[in-house]
Amino acid sequence: MPAAARKTPARPNPARELVFGSLWEYDPAPETADPRLKRRYDLFINGRFVPPRKGRYLPSINPATEARLAEIAQADASDVDAACKAAHKAFTQVWSRMPGQERGKYLYRIARLLQDHARELAVAETLDGGKPIKESRDFDVPMAAAHFFYHAGWADKLEHLASGRSLAPHGVVGQVIPWNFPLLMLAWKIAPALAAGNCVVLKPAETTSITALKFGEICQEAGLPDGVVNIVSGAGETGAAVVRHPLVSKVAFTGSTEVGRLILRSLADTEKKLTLELGGKAANIVFEDAPLDQAVEGVVNGIFFNQGHVCCAGSRLLVQEGVADEVFARLKRRIAVLRVGDPLDKNTDLGAIHSAEQLDKINELVKSGVEEGAVKHDNGCRLPAKGWFFRPTLFTGVSMSHRIAREEIFGPVLSILTFRTLEEAVEKANNTRYGLSAGVWTDKGSRILKMSTLLKAGVVWANTYHKFDPTSPFGGFKESGFGREGGKQGLLDYLKVA
Ligand code: NAI
Ligand code: MG
Repeated sequence: MPAAARKTPARPNPARELVFGSLWEYDPAPETADPRLKRRYDLFINGRFVPPRKGRYLPSINPATEARLAEIAQADASDVDAACKAAHKAFTQVWSRMPGQERGKYLYRIARLLQDHARELAVAETLDGGKPIKESRDFDVPMAAAHFFYHAGWADKLEHLASGRSLAPHGVVGQVIPWNFPLLMLAWKIAPALAAGNCVVLKPAETTSITALKFGEICQEAGLPDGVVNIVSGAGETGAAVVRHPLVSKVAFTGSTEVGRLILRSLADTEKKLTLELGGKAANIVFEDAPLDQAVEGVVNGIFFNQGHVCCAGSRLLVQEGVADEVFARLKRRIAVLRVGDPLDKNTDLGAIHSAEQLDKINELVKSGVEEGAVKHDNGCRLPAKGWFFRPTLFTGVSMSHRIAREEIFGPVLSILTFRTLEEAVEKANNTRYGLSAGVWTDKGSRILKMSTLLKAGVVWANTYHKFDPTSPFGGFKESGFGREGGKQGLLDYLKVA
């Protein structure tokens, strides 16, 4: 009997039974590539791995098993100072003097090396952060390489970015990134910075530094001149030391609105340039004439991709009244077959919640949703005994005043609201302190154009969701931040334009 046809009672899921009438299951399909983890990771400063001066290390945990994966160096202000000095020296003596064509070759080399190490990086990313292997393998790592390829092409063509203007790099750029797309956010930050001729000091998130430090190894393998890229791992204080350092002339941050605000305040008395990519509470808007099968897939991808740990997640579904019941019924059927579990399994749809703190935050907001009167529906699946997991969850009966309709949950939880007219949809979609992204599902091209001008969001996807491309600028309005990443606009944020 083929293995796939075997009945396994291991993961009973009452909702699946509703759909299929029985409990047929997949066999395990674990990814087996070697992530080549070291026991301990040091700081990457001036082209070399060096221990932190105070000798402090933090554990990095696998959120799916709660097991310790490695120890990560914690940089203090003196380590950050050494990294900024190395970056400044590399900028003045090597990188700013190098022709763009030569800089481009290094970016190409890095892109190719990311491809060469793709499986190792994907497994390391999944182990450290909890995201499903199919996402790290098919999205995070290839997109990271794509950002280096794209920006490699720009390195010798910068004068075409703004004709008639003179462009110059800022010098040393300080970058702080979050844990939801560790390697991809690194690529979004480092590729344009280097293409524009800057040198970099980057601080990865304290819970997901492994692939950033592996990236240091890739810089060595590419023969990148010492000091052009420096990686200083550590927690919030390390990030604060990076952004405040006097040699840093431009800061790029992705993370929470709270920390974005702190950084904005701390730089208010300086000349430093700043871009911020913060949270979101995107509306995914489904009109009555939308192709519903496609829309439901888009809504599912919009909220459950990366367990909902996505700043542009479509966390509010606005569905037109005439199709609301139908869309809800289809969504329920769809979430019944989502597989939650081992992130390394190739058939897993939702991996582990990134941390115990994030799980607490999701639980707290979900509890508030129930207490405020919304109705919770989850797929009832059994969750692994170890690690941090959360079932894909839908809320109906949500009103705009509920916390689950206003606050970023950053988890696999969708709030469903309805509307009657286009005007009401726009009003509800824009009634948020954020403005990062939105989705529109309709058969009508003219309506798409109208919605994309009326919605106050940096990105509006039409009949698709979470579509990314290095050529396309990404960024927000209002409390979602300012500045763009990707495309010409993103590159210009790494240049002084005179
Ligand atoms: P966070 O904003 O604290 O962390 C992001 C990065 O900033 C990390 O590298 C962190 O070490 C660093 N950082 C923290 N304090 C800093 C400071 N004072 N100066 C400079 N850097 C500092 O985000 P956290 O606590 O991990 O997540 C909290 C919430 O933020 C999440 O529940 C989610 O709602 C939101 N978030 C949004 C993200 C986005 O992409 N928009 C990404 C991560 C979290
Ligand atoms: Mg970890």
